[in-house]
Amino acid sequence: MNDIRDEVREHYALKVVEAVSGTGSGCCGPSSACNSFYDEAQIAGLPAEAKAASMGSGNPTAIAELAPGERVVDLGSGGGIDVLLAAGQVGPTGHVYGVDMTDEMLAVARANAQRAGAANVEFRKGVIERLPLDDASVDVVISNCVINLSPDKPAVLAEAFRVLAPGGRLRVADVVSDEPLSDDRRAQLGSYASCVGGALSDGEYVDLLTRAGFVDAAVTFTAHRDNGVHPAVVRATKPREA
Ligand SMILES: C[S@@+](CC[C@H](N)C(=O)[O-])C[C@H]1O[C@@H](n2cnc3c(N)ncnc32)[C@H](O)[C@@H]1O
Repeated sequence: MNDIRDEVREHYALKVVEAVSGTGSGCCGPSSACNSFYDEAQIAGLPAEAKAASMGSGNPTAIAELAPGERVVDLGSGGGIDVLLAAGQVGPTGHVYGVDMTDEMLAVARANAQRAGAANVEFRKGVIERLPLDDASVDVVISNCVINLSPDKPAVLAEAFRVLAPGGRLRVADVVSDEPLSDDRRAQLGSYASCVGGALSDGEYVDLLTRAGFVDAAVTFTAHRDNGVHPAVVRATKPREA
């Protein structure tokens, strides 16, 4: 498990340095066009470096229905694009945490928050399998093309459940396969780091969310890719009585 995380960390450390220096593109996976998920108007005010470092597969704050005052965590926050978008939506009475394990990403994200003048954000170093957040400390968990990268998805979903307040919601963009992948098929598709080899199927995702305690778990594909691993949005809720 640590080998996969080390490979993923090294991959994204290099990618973000290339992305912000203009020598490479971001993007989760080989063929996605990263900023195309965002409305131009939505990202117009963000620092150029935050847009350059965007490596997601969707637009989680577009489906999160964030309200002023809410507390949000972004799992695998990268260069910070979704943290900054969420920060604008929850406003000065809200708070947004970004959690990432890659020092280079955290440095870019913190610089972007400073450029944007975002006072209600905080980036914490950590792994999403063991979140550096207290129990029941956020209202919403977002994430963008990260959970597929984890070698221990049950731990990630259990941690998302733990840090959510009762009644809180998970609103995630990820890449998801249309059928369970065998080890051989995973090896054919590519590495975890390239955002395909570690994908869950939609059925596996709903099953793991339900086992973690979530209700109303649903996966919706948002685009089609010929390799069977598609961009998708994932929604689930922590019951109020949990
Ligand atoms: C594909 S990039 C997406 C970044 C960001 N969400 C975005 O949309 O631009 C994946 C990010 O997740 C982080 N990451 C991957 N696995 C992680 C883990 N197990 N724990 C913490 N961070 C992780 C990487 O360091 C990287 O910043």
